[in-house]
Amino acid sequence: MPRMSDLRTKSKMSRILAIETSCDETSTAILSGSTQAPTLEAHFILSHTKKTHPFGGIVPEVVAREHLQHLEPLVAQTLAQSHNTLAHITHIAATCGPGLLGSLVVGTTTAKTLALAQNIPFIPTNHLEGHALSPILSALTESPPQEPPPFPYLLLLVSGGHGLLLLVQQPTSYRVIGQTRDDAPGECLDKCARLLQLPTASGAELEAAAKKGNPTRFADQIIPLPQPMKHAKLHHAQHCDLSFSGLKSALARAIANRTLSKQQRLDGAAAVQKALCDSLIERSDTALRTLAAQNRKPAALAVAGGVAANQTLHAQLQCLATKHALPFFCPRLELCTDNAAMIAYAALARSEVVPQKEKNKYSPSSSISLSSVSLSSLSFPVRPRWFLQAECDYKKAYVRSLLDVRNVRKTYANKTRSKKTMFTKVPTKAPTKAPTKAHLQTQTKE
Ligand code: KG4
Ligand code: ZN
Repeated sequence: MPRMSDLRTKSKMSRILAIETSCDETSTAILSGSTQAPTLEAHFILSHTKKTHPFGGIVPEVVAREHLQHLEPLVAQTLAQSHNTLAHITHIAATCGPGLLGSLVVGTTTAKTLALAQNIPFIPTNHLEGHALSPILSALTESPPQEPPPFPYLLLLVSGGHGLLLLVQQPTSYRVIGQTRDDAPGECLDKCARLLQLPTASGAELEAAAKKGNPTRFADQIIPLPQPMKHAKLHHAQHCDLSFSGLKSALARAIANRTLSKQQRLDGAAAVQKALCDSLIERSDTALRTLAAQNRKPAALAVAGGVAANQTLHAQLQCLATKHALPFFCPRLELCTDNAAMIAYAALARSEVVPQKEKNKYSPSSSISLSSVSLSSLSFPVRPRWFLQAECDYKKAYVRSLLDVRNVRKTYANKTRSKKTMFTKVPTKAPTKAPTKAHLQTQTKE
């Protein structure tokens, strides 16, 4: 029978099993090869929006339970579809943040347990880094593979949980150019869809409604909706930031105590979509002009995240890129929304930047004991808030998590020592006199 380590080393190729459970999608993927030539062997995305819809939004406890129920079978299905067993997997990755605490715990605990059982590295992965690299993964896994966006590229990351303008300098190196001060764009669309009583209250439905509506008519009959951050460039310091809660509040105020006709609700959807897209385009334009003025003009413009599926936004970004003489990139739909393939790719990029010396320490065939693997893998916590820019050199954290046996042993030894101190016998009766040094020593020995 082939040994586990033989199976993994039959080719030098990395094969990553990735798990994504940061919000309301349970997703698993197996990605092999290199960042230059990745192969997506299997990919599943299970959305739980139908379960959360009756509650009027995401309920953390409900989605965590859904992940718990569906993750294990999905991992098995992913292995089966790609004709792999766990013995073929060289690394396990999971989203450690940002996201919902309970959901993250389900995904990372499963991933860490599998890594521990298989004695392979666990790669803690940042969800935003997954989105940031998704345009590259999308291009390289097209058939035939397409040219990926050149570095550095300006990425507009727009989803239900995030709104960011990010300069992707290279994998593992990012600069935040602007970010939302309040709601994420997807969150704003979902809330406006609910205010307009669209049945599933989603961004996709708002887009469908907007196609049948007229924003000018809404402005004439109800109220003109404001374009968020239109005058922000006057406030120099943060002139690439985004903001969407004002748009949602303006709609809420405009339609409060009114009964809208069906056509007026469709017009409202068109007005919201126009204000949001105009703002995203103006903010991206400002970011491109600011970077150019600083002699840091990016080589491409890209968009990622669930809202990137919006066709109006897509078309306007394409025009903006043309205006700045830049190529434009948008991942295919399955890679726009939350997915494990992008987590696997970000983990692959992280594993490639770790020096070979560190990797050798951790090869499955090396003589590292199971207990040290468990300690190093479990040392990386879930981070419900995890800013990408602050983690520019989380390479260090990754190397640490891959393991320095000495450090792990030292930490373990310290923990054991502190436990001994904690459990030192405490006298049941307080001494009547103030205790002397000698007195204390006798008590500890008892
Ligand atoms: O990236 P994603 O799947 O999850 C998060 O990280 O949040 O994004 C989901 C968001 C939701 O707010 C959804 O309403 C929005 O993406 N969305 C859209 C469209 N499809 C999904 N927004 C506008 N137009 C669409 N076609
Ligand atoms: Zn996301």
